[in-house]
Amino acid sequence: MDEILINGGNPLNGEVTVSGAKNAALPIIAATILVGGRFTFHNVPALKDIESIQEVLLDMGAEVEFHDNIFSIDTGNLSHFEAPYEHVRKMRASILVLGPLLARMKRARVSLPGGCAIGARPIEQHLNGLSRLGAEITLAHGYVEASAKKLRGTEIYLDLPTVTGTENLMMAAVLAEGRTLLHNVAREPEITALADVLNLMGADISGVGSSTITINGVKELHPVTATIIPDRIETGTFMVAAAITNGEILIHECQPAHLKELILKLKKTGADIECRDKSIRIKGNHPINSVDVKTMPYPGFPTDMQAQFMVLMSVANGFSVISENVFENRFIHVSELRRMGADITISGSHAMVRGVSELSGAPVMATDLRASASLILAGMVAKGTTRIKRVYHLDRGYDAIEKKFSRLGASIKRVPAQS
Ligand code: EPZ
Repeated sequence: MDEILINGGNPLNGEVTVSGAKNAALPIIAATILVGGRFTFHNVPALKDIESIQEVLLDMGAEVEFHDNIFSIDTGNLSHFEAPYEHVRKMRASILVLGPLLARMKRARVSLPGGCAIGARPIEQHLNGLSRLGAEITLAHGYVEASAKKLRGTEIYLDLPTVTGTENLMMAAVLAEGRTLLHNVAREPEITALADVLNLMGADISGVGSSTITINGVKELHPVTATIIPDRIETGTFMVAAAITNGEILIHECQPAHLKELILKLKKTGADIECRDKSIRIKGNHPINSVDVKTMPYPGFPTDMQAQFMVLMSVANGFSVISENVFENRFIHVSELRRMGADITISGSHAMVRGVSELSGAPVMATDLRASASLILAGMVAKGTTRIKRVYHLDRGYDAIEKKFSRLGASIKRVPAQS
């Protein structure tokens, strides 16, 4: 298990190119189950989570090649319809194979994804929707057992706009008989990216990005070649890095349109931000203004940027309230930031952040993917050295981020774990 060592104090300056979006690549790779044949996806990030879904599909009988960010998969000979516990426990998004397996194989056996550090992560919305489409669902021995003679289009009302729930049901409906209306769906850009690939494959999906998606079932689909959209959370993480270190970064190959709420909030903190079609230039502007934030489903402020923004507020010039409205336990990073001198008080789903003049470097522990990014940001501005343990969380969702930060001037390196 590696660790990351950071000496704080360097402003970040220079240019960086963002990787492809993990949360778009995962459902799109799962969608290859829907029809046999060879698919090729470009701009796929080299992440542990991508390796995990690759293992799930290899176990099902797919052939996969993945190098230089090109993911090529042939699903012509799928012989299994199971996503076993040993894979799902490593990456809960493996649940995304459930809908496509049902649509193509009419059967699926997927391990129930356990909870994780940030919450219980239940999947009743996925299962209720699949039942509405005609699937027989049973839960036994920690697995979802699902089967369906035929999936029939119907109206489904989600209780809440679940991202992977919307994706699972959209993929299950593309080959169903008749029309499906999905109401109260999530509207994240990664869902639009998935729908674009499904339509390229011959599906008939409309309304993505609004609160109701319409899917007209089709008889057949075909394999495609496509390019994965940029990762908006990695983009946001670099933006916060420029703002907090008072540096200036030009971010290439990103989609500013996917980050409107974050850009608004960062401008309020005082950062200078200039957006072009596929690039963002951001310049820090200290002292940092304190700004309140409430995380919400897209297009609201992204929960996946909450920890990173909290670090910025922990060295701002005032008092801010950060409300986490999506997950029930996404303040785990707070105790680690407090050890670095941050002044943060939690009350229910609200974190009261009083800016301090300086954080101090300390040994800290990563607990979930985005929290580990926030600890790197804190280490870059803290006085002294910060050593981050359990960086495997980081590797799940960031493609060589310490190398990218180092090229921007950060004093950061990956080292073997201390005995
Ligand atoms: C997706 O997770 C992302 N993962 C998460 O990113 C992201 O934080 C989350 O959406 C919210 O934007 C992927 O896309 C692979 P949800 P997902 O279902 O789909 C509750 C990262 O860092 N809920 O939208 O699992 C749930 O408990 C990850 O890359 C139910 O109650 O999130 C949560 O409180 C972390 N019942 C809320 O809804 C359900 O059936 C939002 O969950 C489903 C969800």
